[in-house]
Amino acid sequence: MDGFLLTGIGHLTTNVGPSIADAVVAIDGSRVSYAGSALSAPELEGRTVIDCEGGAVLPGFVDAHTHVVFAGDRSAEFAKRLAGVSYAEIAAEGGGILSTVAATRTASEDELFALASNRIWRMIGAGTTTIEIKSGYGLDPETEMRLLKVARRLGQELPVKVKTTFLGAHSVPAEFKGRRDDYVQLVIDEMLPAAAPVADYCDVFVEEGVFDVDEGRAIFDAAAALGLGARVHAEQLTHSGGARLAADIGAASADHLDHATPEDAAALVDAGVAAVLVPGASYTLRSAQAPGPMLWEAGCTVALATDCNPGTSYFEAMAPIISLGVVQMGLTTEQAIWSATRGGALSLGLDDLGVITPGAPADLVVLDAPSPDHIPYRPGANLVSRVFASGRSVLTHR
Ligand code: NIG
Ligand code: FE
Repeated sequence: MDGFLLTGIGHLTTNVGPSIADAVVAIDGSRVSYAGSALSAPELEGRTVIDCEGGAVLPGFVDAHTHVVFAGDRSAEFAKRLAGVSYAEIAAEGGGILSTVAATRTASEDELFALASNRIWRMIGAGTTTIEIKSGYGLDPETEMRLLKVARRLGQELPVKVKTTFLGAHSVPAEFKGRRDDYVQLVIDEMLPAAAPVADYCDVFVEEGVFDVDEGRAIFDAAAALGLGARVHAEQLTHSGGARLAADIGAASADHLDHATPEDAAALVDAGVAAVLVPGASYTLRSAQAPGPMLWEAGCTVALATDCNPGTSYFEAMAPIISLGVVQMGLTTEQAIWSATRGGALSLGLDDLGVITPGAPADLVVLDAPSPDHIPYRPGANLVSRVFASGRSVLTHR
């Protein structure tokens, strides 16, 4: 029989029911066929046996918010910020998002694919098996399409599942300076209809000085008419009403939420909107941390994500994000691991991912550590020793 049998597991996190001691996991083809106690396991002979040597097994990470397709280098901007210049000041001078846009517009599809592919292979090596990828560094019809095409290709050619999001409303491009209304109209009339066949979601950066709630609503209404779900950059740098907008329109997720209030949390829970938190951006910008425990206790579906982007959060691995979620944000380790796996999957409508249970796609990681408690505790090491994606062993670090 074709498949794997994982034995010698330390701690098994299935995200369905309590953790299991003395567990084995069987994989047949692309799916899990058994996950549970070795004692009550059915006949499992005939598969390739992999001894985990006491290492923990958990679902592959689901990174539900990335801007991983881009060109250019913003390390000088990072240095400027360390010297005291703010993110908003750099953006106002034409740096920030617009400097990545300039570099990205001149890069070919193959160049963008190669750059993103390198980043995503490192993500996979650190245990990520599903990612959401946003456009948003093109800000013109042609380049936005190129970014979405690259995102789709990454999902086809790399062993990672990909959901794509059109973020044409990430910033007003330089050539539309002083003509925001015209840019919003271009997004609605031209860019969205072109993007709809290759995008799963639409996103808008709702923020003071970027797009306001009314502009966001107009773009999301147009996106909904084309069948796209919504994800909203909300309450990142100021409290601007993005979370309430996400609740009003029934978005799949509201993301960042650094300045979200208990009223916002209640609205998100009522509307079934997931809260995708990105502590890497708060860390890099030395800005407010999202109120993760408050959102969790209010009943939100919380997800943790890297927000991988060249400006505010150049994180590729999920482990340091989980560590920030625990140490800086105040989630428990259990909550953070759930948010980085099951929470991310639910926020993307991928109901069969983020679990290890019979019938689920076999996306899972083996750690070189006995339990997931080691992830937040040892953020500087990649503890992932093996990665399985849809039942294929795609990476072995030993
Ligand atoms: O998620 N908030 C807006 N977008 C990105 C930052 C993009 C950039 O600086 O290039 C974010 O933080
Ligand atoms: Fe973002």
